[in-house]
Order: sequence, then C-alpha cells, then structure tokens
Amino acid sequence: MMLTGKTAFVTGASRGIGAAVAVGLAKNGADVVISDLKGQNAELEKVRDRITETGQKARVLHLDVTDKAAIEAAVAEAGKIDILVNNAGILIPKTLEELDEKTWDAHFDVNAKGVLLVTNAVLPQMRKRKAGRIINIASIAGRQGVPTQGHYAATKAVDITLTRVYAQEAGMDGITVNAICPGIILTEMGKENLGSQEAMDHWSNVAALKRLGAPDDIVGPVVFFASDQSRFVTGQALNVCGGIYFH
Ligand SMILES: NC(=O)c1ccc[n+]([C@@H]2O[C@H](COP(=O)([O-])OP(=O)(O)OC[C@H]3O[C@@H](n4cnc5c(N)ncnc54)[C@H](O)[C@@H]3O)[C@@H](O)[C@H]2O)c1
Repeated sequence: MMLTGKTAFVTGASRGIGAAVAVGLAKNGADVVISDLKGQNAELEKVRDRITETGQKARVLHLDVTDKAAIEAAVAEAGKIDILVNNAGILIPKTLEELDEKTWDAHFDVNAKGVLLVTNAVLPQMRKRKAGRIINIASIAGRQGVPTQGHYAATKAVDITLTRVYAQEAGMDGITVNAICPGIILTEMGKENLGSQEAMDHWSNVAALKRLGAPDDIVGPVVFFASDQSRFVTGQALNVCGGIYFH
C-alpha cells in the first residue's frame, strides 16, 4: 500500500483510463476524489462504489475542466489533494480539410487548457505542504500523430511540454510533474478511434507485445509516479504503449 494517507483527485474519472486509475490508486491505499462532467454522474457513482469496495474513501464531484470557477469550487470542496491526475480528454478524428475551428478549439480547451486550469487550482496547497504529485495523461500521439488526429496530437504535445516546464516551476516545492503517454487503449475513445476490427488487428500486430492496451495497463505507471518510488523522477513522459512507439 504505497499510497496510504494520500488523497488523489482524478479528472474524467467516470470511465476508461480515468476510472481504472481511480480504482487502482484506491487499491494502493489512496482515498480518491473522482470528477467528471455532470452527465456522467451514473457512471461516476459506479466508480465510487468500486473504490469504496477497496476500503478507501471516495468522493464524487462534478467538474468540467474548461470551467475555471467550477474547478476552483471543486478543488476547495475536495480539501487536501496529494496526487492530481489530469486525465480528462477528448478525441474527435477529422482530416485537415474536415477540421473546423470549433473542433480545434474544443480539443485545446479540454486537453490542453484543462490541464493548466486544474493544475493551477491544486498547486497552491501542494506548494504550501511542500509536496505533491501531478500526473498528466498525454498520449503517444503527442510524440507522433497519425492522420485525422493533427489537432488531438497537437494538444497532447502541449501536455508533454507543460509537464517538462511545470516540473521545473514546481520542483523547488517538492512537487513532481510527470506524464504518461498511453498507446492504443481499449476504452470508448480507443475503440471509436480504431473504428474497425481490421484497424485493431493492424495495431496489435505493430505493437511489440502483440496486443492493444486495457485501461488497467495504465494503473502501474500512474501509481509509480504517484508514490515515493518515483521521488527523484520529474518532468518525464513515459510511453505505456506495448511497444508501438520508442522515442
Ligand atoms: N484510449 C486511448 O487509446 C488513449 C490513448 C492515449 C491517450 N489517451 C488519453 O487518456 C485520457 C482518457 O481517455 P479514455 O480513453 O479513457 O477516454 P474516454 O472517452 O473513455 O474518457 C474520457 C473521460 O473524460 C471526460 N471528459 C471529457 N471532456 C471533459 C471535460 N470537459 N471535463 C471533464 N471531463 C471530461 C469524459 O466524460 C470521459 O469520462 C484522455 O486524456 C485521452 O486523450 C487515451
């Protein structure tokens, strides 16, 4: 139980990677505040039940990561936050010609500005305590995008860059900031993105481990970055992709 006595705050935690990470953090001893859009309440409640089954405390808060006032209110309500996981994200594939400004802006608002807003809301209490762990869920797309994902890939490159810079800005207060770059993970986003069995087979075959990821594959790396085991690691982005991408 590496995270006993710690409280984690996870955005976009009602399903997919966020839900797996929230439950995984609880299994490692953390109490967890799970947040997502209001419309995700029924799913959030199911995740809350899975957390309480582990014996840890769980709390549900509604939060749109693009809404600064709502973020500040939720963070104040959450109380002590030792571990922040910036996980909320969107992906609407569109070719260069299809892409409209609204879709571009939505991706930057949620995937990039959301990380800034939530991090800034949590940072003051971490600075005061001279401790904290911030984990940004980026993507291997942030290292090299694929067709129809230029806008998404650009936001994930922003997340990797923010991780490197925030690590330098927060390190003097004992706060580490790291990113995880998942490969193709079979969540609703992952499945929608792949679209067909053919694409699934293709990417499984490309991966060194010959399979696609499950949300639980992201838990271990998050727990590592959340725990004291990574105390001298900051500003890093770790590919968790089964060997699809190597840089
Ligand atoms: N699935 C993959 O293959 C994959 C690969 C690389 C990176 N990622 C990243 O992992 C993270 C989680 O993705 P997932 O696959 O679990 O996707 P998902 O679509 O299953 O879950 C995303 C969650 O974010 C929430 N969300 C969306 N907009 C929000 C907002 N404005 N405010 C608060 N919450 C919001 C959604 O309600 C949802 O619960 C994302 O940042 C995604 O970019 C996913």
